[in-house]
Amino acid sequence: MNEDLRGRHTKDGIRIYEKADFDGMHAAGALTARILDDIAGLVFVGQTTAAIDKAITEMVEDAGATSATIGYKGYQHASCISVNHVVCHGIPGDKVLKDGDILNIDVTTIVDGWFGDSSRMYVAGKLPRKAERLIQVTHDALMRGIDAVKPGNTFGDIGHAIQSFVEGQRMSVVRDFCGHGLGRVFHAPPNVLHYGRPGTGAVLEEGMFFTIEPMVNLGRPETKTLSDDWTAVTRDKSLSAQFEHSIGVTETGAEIFTLSPGGLFHPTYSNG
Ligand code: MF3
Ligand code: CO
Ligand code: CO
Repeated sequence: MNEDLRGRHTKDGIRIYEKADFDGMHAAGALTARILDDIAGLVFVGQTTAAIDKAITEMVEDAGATSATIGYKGYQHASCISVNHVVCHGIPGDKVLKDGDILNIDVTTIVDGWFGDSSRMYVAGKLPRKAERLIQVTHDALMRGIDAVKPGNTFGDIGHAIQSFVEGQRMSVVRDFCGHGLGRVFHAPPNVLHYGRPGTGAVLEEGMFFTIEPMVNLGRPETKTLSDDWTAVTRDKSLSAQFEHSIGVTETGAEIFTLSPGGLFHPTYSNG
């Protein structure tokens, strides 16, 4: 049976998972988060994004887990690595990191059939001031979105929390990509928009699993996809940042499955 058709679903087609399913998501999320902790030291000036991806591939294998992205719609890597004005879905390659480059590294692992999807920002060399502000605002935006998660609130409340905060900082929220339901599958309903109006959209219920993964630009929100059919960049070439957590709705709020086990906020800052 198609994994996503199991269990109870809302009228919006959002699957409601059981209490015991939180343990599976916790295990997958913890592996992804541990990998994101452990690669911090591999991000440095002169390093290639392919070398970082190779290390991630090995870490997933060593854990006895599976990469969700290798073979997904023809994608061939264990991570997406999006440097500077790349918004998301950057393909690891022989690009050499230079001083002041900021990069998002997005990893999704499968552990016992459960998906753990998370991304964070890193820096090669010295972090430029403007990039630091962008990264801080993007992380704060994600956490404000998560703060809006509790039964009875709506997906519009999440989007509004993110959008109003980001635009108040005179930055912009990307509209062309969104978060997604996940669990026993990688991408499931709903589309989790990072903008919106309070009280609109589907109502949150205990047992929903989804990602929140806002992309924030220093300039305008528009993106375009390059001829490789994956790499999305800002149209105006402005810097872009993103953070992503996989979460579950609990009785009173949210459980974040992909919290850093090392308690790292920005691994890039703590590891130099
Ligand atoms: N991890 C991405 C997400 O947050 C999806 C990457 S799909 C890939 O949904 F094929 F580009 F890897
Ligand atoms: Co995702
Ligand atoms: Co992701």
